[in-house]
Amino acid sequence: MKAVEIKPNVYWVGGIDWNLRNFHGYITPRGSTYNAYLILDEKITLIDTVKHYLYDEMKTRISSVIDPQEIDVVVSNHVEMDHSGSLPKILDIIPDATLVTSSHGQRGLKKHYDENWNFNVVNAGDSLSIGKRKLDFIPIPMVHWPDSMVTYSKQDKILFTNDAFGQHIATTERFDDQLDWGILKEESAKYYANIVLPYGGQVQKALTGLSDLDFDTIAPSHGIIWRHHLKDIISLYHHWSKNETKPYAVIAYDTMWGSTKKLAYAFASGLEEGGMNVRIRNIQHTPFSNIITDILEAKVIAIGSPTLNNTMLPTVGGFLTYLKGLRPKDRIGFVFGSYGWGGQAVKLIENMIDGLSWDFPEESMNINFVPSEKDLEKAKNKGISIAKNSKNY
Ligand code: FEO
Repeated sequence: MKAVEIKPNVYWVGGIDWNLRNFHGYITPRGSTYNAYLILDEKITLIDTVKHYLYDEMKTRISSVIDPQEIDVVVSNHVEMDHSGSLPKILDIIPDATLVTSSHGQRGLKKHYDENWNFNVVNAGDSLSIGKRKLDFIPIPMVHWPDSMVTYSKQDKILFTNDAFGQHIATTERFDDQLDWGILKEESAKYYANIVLPYGGQVQKALTGLSDLDFDTIAPSHGIIWRHHLKDIISLYHHWSKNETKPYAVIAYDTMWGSTKKLAYAFASGLEEGGMNVRIRNIQHTPFSNIITDILEAKVIAIGSPTLNNTMLPTVGGFLTYLKGLRPKDRIGFVFGSYGWGGQAVKLIENMIDGLSWDFPEESMNINFVPSEKDLEKAKNKGISIAKNSKNY
């Protein structure tokens, strides 16, 4: 395992997590990478590290270029342990190295590792000379944590953006022109939907803060490095952070004996008939993180559950908890369900998504036991109406 030179004297020295399939609930079928970068200058600088169990891989890659003990400066752009997890081990062999981080970063790193490292706390506008290069530090709070920051090397025209612009892909290809754009777009959308979605305003601020900088490479902390599709990925971040939707619907439901499913499909047939594309997702069979990716750009979101023991199905409750945390705002909503007695699920769903600024042009449907042909016709007509009027909402 070797370092990969991405620009003269700038190396990728990260770790590849081939077997990662679940990143605290985010399903990652393609694995991931944790990208660390090494800059060879008068002061040898390491930007971010890797998850603790990939430390040896990072160290081996660094050792293919220099003796790791020669590192003078370590930059921690973000405290989360997928990037800081190897700090204790690397700083153990370079105890005199300067550790550059934000004030939130210093607080977080002390809480995580309880170490009195040689911190250099940087704020917006601060820079650090490492020889021929000057590194600038640009806070991008909440993209992904309050401590998140970008390190900018003007001389290399590289933005080291940490989580921003990342994708969970395990690969030995390092650049965006070496992988299929469709896959990169899909994984970037999934990453945005599951990591960054609640912070659209902060993403807008970050994009504004970076827009005046002269760069031709974005080196994130997950996945490939952007050098070919820079405009495309930045344009997508603008689009997603402005909460721009497309005219399609996502129907997320679970079912016990098929009644709620019948309503879901009747509603879907109405949407189709009204000219709107639909994605039907059974929550029992589809990871939350995939449904959220579908929802990222969906104009219409329908949620359905039968009532079980006076509440909604736990699968739907879990999904709504996940959805509420990620806060997709300003959509067209529709709620439906079925019940034997009680029938509380529909109301509880309505309550859970209250506060997300969704419009509900059609009244919810809550059907006793099994929907009749008339009920299904009604669900279909609601779909037709929502599809036909979607431009007006
Ligand atoms: Fe990739 Fe917020 O850590």
